Amino acid sequence: MTSGTTPGPAPAAAGGRAPRVVLGVAGGIAAYKAALLLRELTETGHDVTVVPTAASERFVGRATWEALSGHPVATDVWTSASEVPHVRLGRHADLVVVAPATADLLARAAHGLADDLLTNVLLTATCPVLLVPAMHTEMWQHPATRANVALLRERGTTVLEPASGRLTGADSGPGRLPEPADIAAAARRLLGSGARGQDLAGRRVVVSAGGTREPLDPVRFLGNRSSGRQGVALAAAAAARGARVTLVAAHLEVPVPAAVDVVRAGTAVELAEAVTAAADGADAVVMAAAVADFRPAARATAKIKKGEDPGQDPVVVLERNPDVLAGLVAARAGAPSPVLVGFAAETGDEHGGVLEHGRAKLARKGCDLLVLNEVGETRGFATATNEVVLLGADGSERTVPESSKDVVADAVWDAVVPMLAAITTTPENPWTGAP
Ligand code: CTP
Repeated sequence: MTSGTTPGPAPAAAGGRAPRVVLGVAGGIAAYKAALLLRELTETGHDVTVVPTAASERFVGRATWEALSGHPVATDVWTSASEVPHVRLGRHADLVVVAPATADLLARAAHGLADDLLTNVLLTATCPVLLVPAMHTEMWQHPATRANVALLRERGTTVLEPASGRLTGADSGPGRLPEPADIAAAARRLLGSGARGQDLAGRRVVVSAGGTREPLDPVRFLGNRSSGRQGVALAAAAAARGARVTLVAAHLEVPVPAAVDVVRAGTAVELAEAVTAAADGADAVVMAAAVADFRPAARATAKIKKGEDPGQDPVVVLERNPDVLAGLVAARAGAPSPVLVGFAAETGDEHGGVLEHGRAKLARKGCDLLVLNEVGETRGFATATNEVVLLGADGSERTVPESSKDVVADAVWDAVVPMLAAITTTPENPWTGAP
C-alpha cells in the first residue's frame, strides 16, 4: 500500500472558478452526517453554501455550517433581504444537494412550496438537484412519499435511494442516509466532475456482477454470498461517465442500474458465454462476478431424495468451470483491447501476504488490473475489510481507503481510462447510436 486515492479535485466551473454547491439540510437526525459531506465537498475544492431548514437547527447549529463552509448561513428569505438570497443562491449554483431530505422536505419540493429559504432555492435553481432522503422506513414506503419521489424524478430531480440499515432507535430497514462519500460521488457525477465527467464517452464496456449458481437438481444449487453490489456500482459509474455498458448479471441482491444493457446468466458456463459474446469489440471488461470454480458434475433431473439408508447418501462430484478471465486473456492474444480487469479477495498465509498473493494472481491471470480486497488481517491494512488495492500489470499499486462501492467503482475506472488511451474509439453513428 504505497499511496492513497482520494476523490480528485472539483472540476473548475465555467470561468475556472470552483463549482458552487448549495447544501440544503432538512430536519432529521442524519443532519450531523451532512457536516461530513460538507467537509468532503469543501476539501475537494467546491464552494459550498449551506441552507438549513429551521427544523434542522434543532440537530446541528448554524455555527457548525458557517465554520465548515466559510459562508454565512440563513434559513429564511428575510435575512440579508437586500441581496435577494432566495433567487441569487438558486440561480448561481452549479448543483443543489439536499442531505438529509426528510419526507416533509420531499413533499414541499414536490408540490412547489416556498415557505423557507431552502424551498425557495429549489424553485429558483436551474442547475441539477440531488435529493438524498433519510427517514424511517414507514415514511419512505408511504404512498404519499412514493408519489412525491416519483413526481420529483419525473421532473428530472435526482433522488438517491436511501441506504438500508440501522435507523434512529432500535429499528432498521431502508431509510438511512447513504454514506457521505457516496453522496459526494453522486454530487461529483452530477457536476460532471472534471477529467472524470464523460471520460468513457464513445467506449463500450462489459461488467460482470453477482454470484453464479450451479444446479444440483431442479431446486438446489451451489452458490456464494456475492451480492453483486460492486459490479452494479461499476456498471452505473461507467454509464454515468458516458460508456455504453453491458452488465452480465449472475445472481444479484440489488436492482440493476438504469441506462445499462443487462444480460442474465445463471451458471458459470452461461456467464462465460455471455461475457465472451459481449466482449467482442468491447474496450474493457471488468470481471467483478463471483464465478464458481466448480460445478456438480451431474445435475439430477428430479429432486434428490433423502432415502432411508444413510449408506446411500449422495456424494457430490465437482468438475471445473471455465476460467472466464483467463479465456478473455487468451482470446485477445496480446492485443491491447479489451482492457481486462479482475477482482480477487485474498487472505495472507504462510506463503505470503495479501499483496504477494494479489501480485501472483495478477501475473497468473494475465489481466491488466487486479482489484484486490483483503479478507482478514495482515500488515499494510489497518481496517482490512474496507480497503481495496488496485494492482496494475505495470507494477503500479494504489490503495483506495474508502469503503463505498461507488468510490471504489470510480477509482477502478480512473485506473482503466489511461489504459484505454492506446485503443482508438469508433465514432458512433449519431442517428442510431451504433458504431
Ligand atoms: N474468475 C473467472 N472465472 C472463474 C473464476 C474466477 O473469470 N471460473 C474471475 C473472477 O471474476 C475474478 C478473478 O477471476 O475477477 C479472480 O477470481 P478468483 O476466484 O479470486 O480467482 P481464482 O483463479 O479462482 O483463484 P483462487 O484459486 O484464489 O480462487
